[in-house]
Amino acid sequence: MKSPIEVFSKWADEGRDEAMAKGHASSVNAILDFTYKHIKDAFSFLDAGCGNGWVVRKVGNHPLCNKAIGVDGSRSMIDKAILIDSKNTYECEDLIDWIPDEKVDVIFSMEVFYYVNNPRKLIDHVVNNWLKSTGRLIIGIDYYKENKPSESWPLDCGISIMTRLSEHEWKESFSKSGLVNVLTWREGQKDKWGGTLILTGEKPNY
Ligand SMILES: C[S@@+](CC[C@H](N)C(=O)[O-])C[C@H]1O[C@@H](n2cnc3c(N)ncnc32)[C@H](O)[C@@H]1O
Repeated sequence: MKSPIEVFSKWADEGRDEAMAKGHASSVNAILDFTYKHIKDAFSFLDAGCGNGWVVRKVGNHPLCNKAIGVDGSRSMIDKAILIDSKNTYECEDLIDWIPDEKVDVIFSMEVFYYVNNPRKLIDHVVNNWLKSTGRLIIGIDYYKENKPSESWPLDCGISIMTRLSEHEWKESFSKSGLVNVLTWREGQKDKWGGTLILTGEKPNY
């Protein structure tokens, strides 16, 4: 078993990051549609666990986006992102202890927040240290208790850290971090596949 960062670095070296991006595209589009619908002014954007940076490049082209940043612990993923894109900002850092120079309006993340031992701690960290007041955290995850087909992924992918919470536990972690107007929904459910669990909440203005 290897750490998530080791496994995804190998995926990047083997070119599997592009297929992963394609697989995530429809859920990511739903997340971005929701996000853009609630944006009226210029905004800064941060992708936590950005992989090869494909979402950073996409959002960086939005007319109201004034800064787009991608953070990932995998050097191979970040090197790929920097090679393709000199306009936006990329950092190779562990999400658990990194803090951006300036807080942002929107924190996005797709298929990342369960690759830590304590997702609740990661949520608290990003809400307290990364997000501006009135800003939004929005994430998508496919690995959660109700989504039975994802149960075997740690063994299938040989990944040592994957924390499996229920939809209720994820929602509670968002609320307990101080976020308000917390919403969850599923995107792309079919047959036994539970769909991408999308969670979002706003930081109060204090
Ligand atoms: C399933 S991939 C998703 C990548 C990207 N969000 C996408 O949709 O294509 C998970 C990513 O999270 C990164 N990651 C996992 N744990 C991390 C951590 N503790 N700190 C930083 N990055 C991490 C991995 O390196 C990998 O690129």
